[in-house]
Amino acid sequence: MDISNKSLIKDKCYINGEWINSYNKDIIEVNNPSTLKIIGKVPKCGKEETKFAISKANEAWSGWKGKTALERSVLLKKWFYLIEKNKEDLAKIMTFEQGKPIAESRAEISYGASFVEWFAEEAKRIYGDTIPDRFSDRRIIVLKQPIGIVAAITPWNFPSSMITRKCAPALAVGCPVVIKPASQTPFSALALGVLAEEAGFPKGVINIITGDAKEIGSEMSYNPIVRKLSFTGSTEVGKVLLSQCSSTVKKVSMELGGHAPFIVFDDANIDEAVTGAIQSKFRNTGQTCVCANRLFVHEKVYDEFLKKFVKAVSEMEVGDGFTEGIVSGPLIDEYSLEKVKEHVQDAVNKGAKIAIGGEIHKLGGNFYLPTILSDVSIKSKITNEETFGPVAPVYKFSKDEEVIKMANDTPYGLASYFYSRDIGRIWKVAEELEYGIVSVNTGLPSKAEIPFGGVKESGLGREGSKYGIDDFLEIKYIQMAGI
Ligand code: SIN
Repeated sequence: MDISNKSLIKDKCYINGEWINSYNKDIIEVNNPSTLKIIGKVPKCGKEETKFAISKANEAWSGWKGKTALERSVLLKKWFYLIEKNKEDLAKIMTFEQGKPIAESRAEISYGASFVEWFAEEAKRIYGDTIPDRFSDRRIIVLKQPIGIVAAITPWNFPSSMITRKCAPALAVGCPVVIKPASQTPFSALALGVLAEEAGFPKGVINIITGDAKEIGSEMSYNPIVRKLSFTGSTEVGKVLLSQCSSTVKKVSMELGGHAPFIVFDDANIDEAVTGAIQSKFRNTGQTCVCANRLFVHEKVYDEFLKKFVKAVSEMEVGDGFTEGIVSGPLIDEYSLEKVKEHVQDAVNKGAKIAIGGEIHKLGGNFYLPTILSDVSIKSKITNEETFGPVAPVYKFSKDEEVIKMANDTPYGLASYFYSRDIGRIWKVAEELEYGIVSVNTGLPSKAEIPFGGVKESGLGREGSKYGIDDFLEIKYIQMAGI
């Protein structure tokens, strides 16, 4: 890897302030999804190493929660500055292992760093309460205290920012963390570990363990020392972790699958709606939980929208993330590519027309052309399942009630988008959409200061914002009598 700060590349796990191998020396190979070449290896740890990491986090717990909020804030700020300082190298590491265009990797590093900065500030604002008692000789105080050891399981689609979105609030309030990054993208996580070490976090406060997802996830969820598990990934895996965590009644945050509707009403600014659709649908090659998955366009503006959307997609350059001008990279692996192919074929079998794309890119490998499908049947798989790829099915509608019903007709409820300039309609539709995130007239809702999260099978809890910190706190009520 051609980067300036070579110390960022680590092929060992970070536990209790030390860089270690797996006990049995097993490894996982990591490939570049663009070239399909192996770019490195990391330890394949399992139950025993996870148990050890959790026990070391537990030893660090009293020291870490005993620090003042200001001391924790200063360390988080140092980490933030180091991430920003190494931004270019961190972005390159990400593009190497994840494939996203380098401009998107740079944006993700800044997005990830913004959580560290945000929660460094929030560390100082954990306010409790006093409550007037019904008896005159008594006082009621409400304290907020760190929940304890936090386990974080993070995905490959955002290899850096999902770590900071979970760990920064945990660390800010005084919780040590044990992080399990996705096996496809461990180097971004380990590089964050190098910078955390340089920032001066005490040993055991931040631990990063790579390896077998099932074994590590199972130890994290059954181990009674862990008091909170935060997971970003599929609804399917989230359900397994949820049921495992019930054995020790852990607090959980689940940021799971999405199936975002993107609605264009007849009073929308069509050019802006097209820009928003491109941003929302094709960010990270369609591999985000908040990607638009079903585009509903009013019949009066359908032809105009479709024509402009197809033109915008025809201008998208696909290729290796390091090539100048590329806006769409490869899919993460063959499994993802197969799912995209299956969804397109199924939609076509059920009557959909391919407006553009619809096939593997000439580069082959994991590259698929940005695709628009029109006349899609609501019985198609793509209408009912998350595709996680660069395919946009477009549907026509005529009435507001009809489109709201279609938009809500899914077990998912993470992000939703719509374009309109009518303030009455904006309020009504925003209130009726059964989603945790409603984005009006923009395709990019994510930032540190918003409560990110979903309803229904899209998850539990919120990340980012002042709400995101509550997930790492317990409330304690103190009663004082005889005053
Ligand atoms: C995700 O896809 O899991 C996160 C997307 C975001 O934070 O915008």
